[in-house]
Amino acid sequence: MHVKFGVIADLHVDIMPDGAARMQGFCEEAVRWGAEFLIHLGDMQYPEAEFLREADANGVEKAKQHSWFFCDRDDEKLEVKRLLRETGLPMYGVLGNHDMDACSKKATCRYWGMPSPYYSFVRGGLRFIALDTNHIVTEDGVLDFEVNNYRYYPGAQLSYLTSPQLKWLEEEILRSEEPCVLLSHAPLGDDLLCTKDRQEVWKILERVNADRRRVIFALNGHNHIDGMSVRRGVPFISINSASNIWIGHRYDAIRYSETISRLYPHIKGCAPYRDALFAFFEIDDETIRMTGRKTGFVGPSPQQLGFPKTSAYHEPVPFIRDRVLPVAALDGDGRIEEGQ
Ligand SMILES: [Fe+2]
Repeated sequence: MHVKFGVIADLHVDIMPDGAARMQGFCEEAVRWGAEFLIHLGDMQYPEAEFLREADANGVEKAKQHSWFFCDRDDEKLEVKRLLRETGLPMYGVLGNHDMDACSKKATCRYWGMPSPYYSFVRGGLRFIALDTNHIVTEDGVLDFEVNNYRYYPGAQLSYLTSPQLKWLEEEILRSEEPCVLLSHAPLGDDLLCTKDRQEVWKILERVNADRRRVIFALNGHNHIDGMSVRRGVPFISINSASNIWIGHRYDAIRYSETISRLYPHIKGCAPYRDALFAFFEIDDETIRMTGRKTGFVGPSPQQLGFPKTSAYHEPVPFIRDRVLPVAALDGDGRIEEGQ
């Protein structure tokens, strides 16, 4: 097996003043480096107004009323999609929680060209399994994330895979002729801001990896941090956001200019990264080789502002580490301490 691909997560075009420029950086580097395809790990952008209107006659009004970060800068969103198209590379995605802030899950899948909320694909002798961590568990049953309905439920009820998907996951791994990589938006290996039924995934790993190594690693976005956890010998890697870490409006700071802060009101609650972050992976039978990008924060860092250590499972940093991991079981359980 041999495969080379690029990964980007949590671009959040609706928050950032330079989302399209960040995407341009990723696309140019991916083509230069020789990526065979691209993966995005969710929370890229809300669909533009024309798409929302087509999906639902009142789609734009609903999005304005319910979504967190609605912006009407459709030119930037169209530019992001154009840049991706012009790479000529296939792109595969997972659903981020914010991807359904503005519309239904079905519409989001259509917008990103996904066959269904969870699915798998094979590239270069590896099977990538894209999971949907966006379910709400209520007393009356399971709900999909739709038009930001999850804001009305407590955190404990959010971010579930749920049993039908877990059953499908195990079957998909067992019938796969290729080793598998798990992709999700919310983490499956961390213990904070994570998928709530992740321990069911770890139990699946115990079973499917017992006689041979069927699942070799997992990638997630969502938490805008770089870090690695190990569960049942499998590395779970958090891919940092391309853009920022959200630290909340209690740490509001003017980091660009008053004008930009007015036009992009949510940027004040973020610690943005000066340059876009993304990662490239090259995998063969023995090694998972990962190359990340490094930059700095725009303005004060979360640490300088007193953002508590306990608010993030891994230390907030403006970079993605390089890692070289064996395609073999790793030691450890939970967060792995890594150097800078
Ligand atoms: Fe997210």
